[in-house]
Amino acid sequence: MRGRFDIGIIGGGIIGMALARALAKRGAKVAVIDAGATIPAATNAAAGMLAPSFECGGATTQSLQHFSMASLAAWPTFAASLEEETGIEIDYQNNGILGVFYDDIEWSKARKTCENLRQRGSAVDVMTGEEARRIEPALSNKVIGAMHARQDGQVDPRKALIALRAGFAKTKGEAIAGRVVQVSREEGGYILETDQGDHIAASKIVLASGVAAKTALIPGLEPPPIFAVKGDAVALSIPDNLLRKVVRAPGAYLCPKAGRRLVIGASEAPYCEDLTVDQSATDGLVRNGTRAVPALRNVDVTERWAGLRPATPDGAPLLGRDPDGPEDVFLALGHYRNGVLLAPESAEVLAEELIGSGAVRSATMEAFRPDRFRQIQQARQCRV
Ligand code: GLY
Repeated sequence: MRGRFDIGIIGGGIIGMALARALAKRGAKVAVIDAGATIPAATNAAAGMLAPSFECGGATTQSLQHFSMASLAAWPTFAASLEEETGIEIDYQNNGILGVFYDDIEWSKARKTCENLRQRGSAVDVMTGEEARRIEPALSNKVIGAMHARQDGQVDPRKALIALRAGFAKTKGEAIAGRVVQVSREEGGYILETDQGDHIAASKIVLASGVAAKTALIPGLEPPPIFAVKGDAVALSIPDNLLRKVVRAPGAYLCPKAGRRLVIGASEAPYCEDLTVDQSATDGLVRNGTRAVPALRNVDVTERWAGLRPATPDGAPLLGRDPDGPEDVFLALGHYRNGVLLAPESAEVLAEELIGSGAVRSATMEAFRPDRFRQIQQARQCRV
């Protein structure tokens, strides 16, 4: 037996590691079992935008918008304490995101979105192309208008994950490399067996393994309704200070990182699990990025990659226990386009659910309950 733990988290991406941190802070002994060597975390493929005004301002639920805003508000403390604890800079910035538009139709849609967002408490401004170029002089003259979300921002997700892992290494918990191949019930908990031959005992289990969770081997748990949405992305080496903030243009978002690195994302290929980089998709991103920032015409591509976003049918995460599933098995899955943004708040609400007083089930946990799709189906069947 490798060890006995209060909680075993399957999946060591940003969601699993942020949760491990929140649980360890509450005194729990946590094991994180990560198959990263064979299934790379979506976190490493993400660009790291913290963009509720753009990603969650449209057709998604109000609960997701509230949750996203709460998590955005949690990021400054989360980032500062993580950097202080580990001495690792994660390049967190809350200097705003600029959405840019080339035509009147898109621009007038953006103005409406802006009004809605303001009513929900987002700090967003609309501005002309000229005003946007005063903020980001490298923007093309073809930009006729922009939406500036003043409080949105970004972080370097790869660095954040390294810092979370370094912070976790200082707790009494253990990070275990391997893919869970069997889960069995035992008195007071579960035994997780990995493909490396480790056996880990845990009183409670959390599934935080992204797309891989759809084939989770937990007895009595229905396969979570997760599917992959592949994203290709690209990095360029840019001149110093070409851009200061994230720019979202039609067909590309541009995230300037430390070290003159510009990440441009990302394609969306639903149900595709092939991690081969799509050359034409990444070429398209560079083309769309160059349309917004013409100076990119002459810069070098330094990296191309692909990752799998774990999506759900309604675009919102699955958090908590499936009421029809086994006792003491919890889900932290399906963060789709917002895993990085939602990590701090997901970790807090789940940690409370797992080892808090449990007296009050939060509205968040209720909104994102893993059985909600089954509930809708059952309600429809009753009406027929
Ligand atoms: N959050 C941006 C993306 O998933 O591409």
